[in-house]
Amino acid sequence: MLKPHVLQFHFGLKKPVKILHLTDPHLSFALESEPEEWQKNAALRRNVFFNEAEFPERDPVGYLEEAMEYSKNFDCTVITGDLIDLSFQGSIRQAERILAGKDFMFTPGNHELCRARTPLTFENRDEVFLDGLRHVFPRNMHFESRIVGGVNVVAVDNSMIIWTQEQFDALMTEIAKGLPILLFCHCPLTDVMLTLEGEERRNRYFNMGATREMIDLTCRAMNIIADEPLIKASFAGHYHYTGTEHIKEKTSYILGGLFKGIVGEIIID
Ligand SMILES: [Fe+2]
Ligand SMILES: [Fe+2]
Repeated sequence: MLKPHVLQFHFGLKKPVKILHLTDPHLSFALESEPEEWQKNAALRRNVFFNEAEFPERDPVGYLEEAMEYSKNFDCTVITGDLIDLSFQGSIRQAERILAGKDFMFTPGNHELCRARTPLTFENRDEVFLDGLRHVFPRNMHFESRIVGGVNVVAVDNSMIIWTQEQFDALMTEIAKGLPILLFCHCPLTDVMLTLEGEERRNRYFNMGATREMIDLTCRAMNIIADEPLIKASFAGHYHYTGTEHIKEKTSYILGGLFKGIVGEIIID
């Protein structure tokens, strides 16, 4: 059984809008044709999440199947990343099978960008990691928006924390539409992102190929998100527990992992 976590917002809509938020299923499989080491690794990872979820009644595949069936009751479904645990073909094929023909928005998590011994950079993230998911999600994985019953649902890829100029410009375009925005991303938006403080942290981004301009732009984006009245709240996963953080006064709602059976129901009227 799924465990719904319900949030309600009042925007004065004529008709209520229902959004289903799913995050962090962490599908973890390798095909027999993939290296034996990867198959062992995938089995170990399945065990990690089984333990982290404290021995759930279903596995992540079962919960994702159940959640996508449940999504028929909603106006819009958003999956905020870590759909797959490691970018092995087995994980991708499972996601493809379950999500084929389903309507959903998607933004990647840091685990879509994980594979044994393959270093990640801003340069290689599409070609090496995300292009393998094109069958699962053919649209723009770095930014997507959809107007649902008077609410602007926006999904931004922040799986590497840093925003690009294209994402920044796209957010400005969405704000100019003048509708209330609900912003979805993988990593929770917190006060620490307002400055991306800390040399160690900045060096990690530089090592992945971020420029000083990209870091400054990300800080600008975070300040706009915090200050812009049309952006009502942000929604994320990544931490695997359900809770809240803040970016200035604005709430960042964090949803627990689907591998625990948790789904987010956002009701707006
Ligand atoms: Fe995760
Ligand atoms: Fe994550």
